[in-house]
Parts: sequence; structure tokens; C-alpha cells
Amino acid sequence: MVRRMMFNGTAYFGQGAIGEIVNEIKNRHFKKALVTSTPDLFEFGIATKVTDLLDEAGIAYEVYDGIKPNPSIANITDSVEACKRSGADVIVAVGGGSPIDASKAIATIMTNPEFSDVRSLEGLAPTKNPCLPIIAVTTTSGTAAEVTINYVITDEEKNRKFVCVDPHDIPIVAIVDPDMSATMPTGLCAATGMDALVHAIEGFITKGAWELTDMLHLKAIEIIGRSLRSAVAGDYDGREAMSVGQYIAGMGFSNVGLGIVHSMAHPLSALYDVPHGKACAMLLTAVLKFNASATGTKYRDIARVMGVADVDAMDETTYRAAAIDAIQQLADDVGIPKSLSEAGVKEEDIPFLAESAFKDACTPGNPKDVSLEDIIGIYKSIL
Ligand SMILES: NC(=O)c1ccc[n+]([C@@H]2O[C@H](COP(=O)([O-])OP(=O)(O)OC[C@H]3O[C@@H](n4cnc5c(N)ncnc54)[C@H](O)[C@@H]3O)[C@@H](O)[C@H]2O)c1
Ligand SMILES: [Fe+2]
Repeated sequence: MVRRMMFNGTAYFGQGAIGEIVNEIKNRHFKKALVTSTPDLFEFGIATKVTDLLDEAGIAYEVYDGIKPNPSIANITDSVEACKRSGADVIVAVGGGSPIDASKAIATIMTNPEFSDVRSLEGLAPTKNPCLPIIAVTTTSGTAAEVTINYVITDEEKNRKFVCVDPHDIPIVAIVDPDMSATMPTGLCAATGMDALVHAIEGFITKGAWELTDMLHLKAIEIIGRSLRSAVAGDYDGREAMSVGQYIAGMGFSNVGLGIVHSMAHPLSALYDVPHGKACAMLLTAVLKFNASATGTKYRDIARVMGVADVDAMDETTYRAAAIDAIQQLADDVGIPKSLSEAGVKEEDIPFLAESAFKDACTPGNPKDVSLEDIIGIYKSIL
């Protein structure tokens, strides 16, 4: 069996890593950059850290601050026009998953104009050309969009989010500088951190998992398990560890896929605007219980790297319960609500949510085959 693994060509980690953007732009002879982000990241002085560097180095650039959280189809279409007008030959995407994902869609359409209808990019789009080069600077520690080949777009008309998977969209350079994510408010740090944990766990138990991705996912679970609490408490070392942990999870899941935590989280964000990481976190242990019988001894490995003692002495039922308990404890400790109704979910919407989740691109990767009724049952169990 042939397996493909894709990572960034170049990635920089650690405090001060954003300084490398200048060298990368110069060494690759780019003429003009388009710095894409959200208005608040400029307002908070986060995206301006990047433009200050470009100013100092005399690099030509234009700012585009029109990216919206959970970018919509209309947002992408407008942004493509702005990108064309700028004449930029490289995009410097600064932000969490939203600006980086939006930049992947924009950059893909720039070099593959036959995919200008954004919906045509859903799933595995057969694009022909690598996207406009992207230097991705992450400001959250969760999605790992800077290293993945995926991006997620919101279809506002149909109240759904759709996942696009395309090896042509991978950023050529990733910048993982903890100074950029140190400013995250507590709730965002908790939600994005739990998103990263879900990536690592779903990637570890997904149908396509294998030794190389197991290695990445287990390391990511270990780092996140020991760092998320202190990161949420505002500790800089914890924030730095999370920036690396989430990236390692991205190196894994981008290459093997996820499962129904993500399928079920996407419609919650599309319909009720629940932040992505929070939606994933609320669903995680309910889905883990459902999937347990299809995971062999993998929950023992999860329990071990989550710090549970004596897992080798435990029988299957005990180590599975121990893994789920350790994960639930972490979610509780960082303030994730337990019931979906706390996030505004209404029982009458469950059939729509379940239909949407069932059709999601992440569903085939779930370790256990799942029916529409199973998904309805899981939503109801945590309403
Ligand atoms: N590409 C992938 O593989 C992948 C994986 C998972 C999720 N996603 C998608 O990514 C999006 C979510 O991304 P996200 O969770 O990173 O959040 P986000 O990019 O939507 O940002 C959320 C909010 O936090 C603010 N923010 C970001 N960084 C900050 C900082 N350092 N300090 C203060 N405020 C900051 C933003 O301005 C925004 O208002 C969703 O659309 C989700 O579906 C993509
Ligand atoms: Fe996610």
C-alpha cells in the first residue's frame, strides 16, 4: 500500500520566528506580498507585528483585512478580487484557522480560475496548479491550518460548512511563533487547544492511521495533555508548548483524516456560530464512547500519554474508561460546557444537524461505521 505524507517545505518555531518572514520573502525573490487577516488582529497589534517587519525591511506589501471568522463563500469571492487588484505574488496569512483557510481558498482560485465557484472546491477538488504561494503565520494554537492541506468554508445559504482537501494548497512556509498566540483570550485558548486535542485523537483512531501518523498523534496528545491547562492559565511556556503540540497534530491528521467529532461539530458552527474548537470539545467524549469498540488497544495508548498510571495492568474496559475520563477532566478543567443546549442547540434542529454531519467529508474516516440514527443518538445523549 502506498501512503502519501505532505508537510510544509519549511517551518519555523519559537519566539521571534516571525523575523524569518523577511528572509523567506527575499530569498524566494517575491516582489509584493498581500498580508491577509481579520480587522481585530490589526486592531490588537498582532498582524501589525508582521507589517512592521515588512516596513523595516522595505518589502512591498498591501494589507487585506477583509477576512471574516468562519469565512463564507461571498467572503472568498470578494477576497479573490482584492488579491487580483493587489498584484501580489505571495500571500502572508496571519491568523487562526479563518484567515489561513480563507487564504488557501483565495490562493487556489488565483491559480486555478476554473474553480472560481467556491462550492466546486468541496472535497477533493481536481485542481491542476499549486496555489499562489502562502506564508502562514498562526495566531491560535488549534487548527494547524498552517501545515494542513485542508480548509473549511461556510455556505451561509445552506447553513453548512464544507471541507476542502487539496495538496495544492499547502503553505510553503509555516511560522509558529508563540508571541503571536500569547495574546489569545482564555476562552479562545481553551477552545482552540481542545480542537488540537481532537485532531490528535481523531487522527490517531481514524481508519487511515498508520505507524508514522500514530507517532505524531501520540506525541501531540502528550504535549497537549500536559500543557493545555497552564496555557489557558496564561503561562507562556504552556502557550509555546501548545503551539508545537497543535502543529504536530496537524502534521498527522492532515495526511490521514479525522472522524465524526468534526463531522458533527461543523453544523453546530454553521447553524449556531459555536466556535469550532468548543463545538469539537463538547462532542469529544460522547463520540469516543461510541467509537470505543472499533479502536483495539488505542485507548490504552491515549490513557498512557494523558498521564494515567498503571495502564498496562488494566483490562480493556478499564483503560478505555480511564482514557475517556482523563480527556473529560481536561475539558472540564479548561471550562468546556458539557451540554449542547448550553451552546444554544435546539432539539428540533437535530435531524438537520445529523443529516449535515452524516454527509460531511470527515465521516468516512471515523473508525466505526456510523448511521444517521447513530449520529442523532449521540447529539441527543449530550443535549
Ligand atoms: N484547515 C484546517 O485543517 C482546519 C482545521 C480545523 C478547523 N478549521 C477551521 O478554522 C476556523 C477556526 O479557526 P480558529 O479556531 O483558529 O479561530 P479563528 O481564526 O476563527 O479566530 C477566532 C477569533 O479569534 C481572534 N484571534 C485569533 N488569534 C488571536 C490572538 N492571538 N489574540 C487575540 N485574538 C485572536 C480572531 O480575530 C477571531 O475573532 C474554522 O472555520 C474551522 O472550521 C480548519
Ligand atoms: Fe478542528
